Amino acid sequence: MFGFIPHQSVQPNLGLIPKPLSVQVQDGQFEINSDMRVAVTDDTTSVGLKLRNYICPATGFILPLNRSLGRGAINLRLDNHLSDLGPEGYRLDVKSDRIDITGYKPAGVFYGVQTLRELFPSDIFRAAKVSGVPWRLPYVRIEDKPRFSWRGAHMDVARHFEQKRFVEKFLDEMALHKLNVFHWHLTDDNGWRIEIKQYPRLTEFGSKSDFSVMNPKEATRSRSVIPGGYYTQDDIREVVRYAADRFITVVPEIEMPGHSAAAILSYPELGNAEAIKRVGGDYKAIGRDNVYNPSDSTIAFLQNVLTEVMELFPGKFIHVGGDEVDKGPWKRNPEAQEKLHALGLKDEDELQSWFVRQMDAFLTSKGRRLIGWDEILEGGLAPGAAVMSWRGIDGGISAAKSGHDVVMTPTSNTYFDYYQAKDGIGEPVAIGGYLPLRLVYAYEPIPPSLSPDEAKHVLGAQGQLWSEYIPEPRHMEYQAFPRFCALAEVVWSEPKDRSYAEFLTRLKPHLERLRAMDIAFREPDSNDWSP
Ligand code: ACM
Repeated sequence: MFGFIPHQSVQPNLGLIPKPLSVQVQDGQFEINSDMRVAVTDDTTSVGLKLRNYICPATGFILPLNRSLGRGAINLRLDNHLSDLGPEGYRLDVKSDRIDITGYKPAGVFYGVQTLRELFPSDIFRAAKVSGVPWRLPYVRIEDKPRFSWRGAHMDVARHFEQKRFVEKFLDEMALHKLNVFHWHLTDDNGWRIEIKQYPRLTEFGSKSDFSVMNPKEATRSRSVIPGGYYTQDDIREVVRYAADRFITVVPEIEMPGHSAAAILSYPELGNAEAIKRVGGDYKAIGRDNVYNPSDSTIAFLQNVLTEVMELFPGKFIHVGGDEVDKGPWKRNPEAQEKLHALGLKDEDELQSWFVRQMDAFLTSKGRRLIGWDEILEGGLAPGAAVMSWRGIDGGISAAKSGHDVVMTPTSNTYFDYYQAKDGIGEPVAIGGYLPLRLVYAYEPIPPSLSPDEAKHVLGAQGQLWSEYIPEPRHMEYQAFPRFCALAEVVWSEPKDRSYAEFLTRLKPHLERLRAMDIAFREPDSNDWSP
């Protein structure tokens, strides 16, 4: 006797990345044609315009946008009953006579639209009309919501500058992957990239250099075609708006007190060498002066800079760096020592902590929140500050245990400036390290030692694109993808049934989308493809 064999409905591979919470595919397909419309409400009009613009280039259909929700339309609307899905969740139904995308908030509808794009043939991502493609989508019901609220991508434009248009292309790539925080590393030793009206030398002088200019020994490995560059405040406003249109918050990073040579070269009184000179010390012993001095006037300078920054960036968080501060210049600067003692502080770690507290109090008084790299924990963390745990996960654990919010950014799993092939064989020069796709995918942002209440302080995770060895935009995309595809799933999807092998089956069709978008991603090699 044979047992009863239930009907096995083989689920087609839709290649959805990040993986939604639930997907039910039904038999049949919906064909989009030029008779369709996009039906919206007040709340969903801007998302509707975006959807129309996504569909238009490849199909050639200019779908009318109107208010008549119903059959024959892609209906975008909000529904209070979907509050369980949260502000970024959505329900997507492709049925025989209509497509419905419904969310509790517009962000959810926007993410439903991103999933809808993935249901089309991958040619939908092309920028001009593709002939002979029937634009068919499977009948499906999807319910989806993100696991974490901070789904970040960091980009260093200080070591090598990136053009505004490239940044905007990257924001499009983020949106497709449902990433929602763009951490823009705007200042560092090698360059100052943001116009500050009150301090024009920051860009007149401080923007002219880059990593290859300041590190001539590295120039052959990492040379920009055009060194330097910066964004005007008008440029910044454009990028911030472009991001907001895609439900992406831009978190600007203004590095302090270290990694600040570009600002100090522009205004030497901000550093330590000038102070040492004033008191007749051996300022040459200081080496590269890349740490702000802790004087009242320097604190005021930075708060003035942050005032202009806050006008440009409406998001809650402002990143002040705080990593890798060389305390030597403070040790050798008698004025810094005087300050340290006048404040009753024990050592330079406490001075750094004091420095960050000045910024924290200032940002907090303006209704913002400070975030910094995990070194800001040393010497005591400012009360409302949040931390990016990059030197492993211990900083994240101790911050969360003491009630501070954390974004997990450990080098081990999220530094996308590392090589993707073992020993970098066959790859363009990178900073070092080895972070293959599978290791990104394997990352679990909640450290096991956190209690459920402590774990609530883990806002999410973020991939880092430090650009010392990324001199041009195609290389940036090469470092970014497909690792951001894996990270998107880490921060969006439920971990319980996560499988690298199954991810790979979805990645294959997804890469066709990235190809159609002209993203210079790294082709996974046989090691990546072996589950
Ligand atoms: C860092 O990588 N220095 C935060």
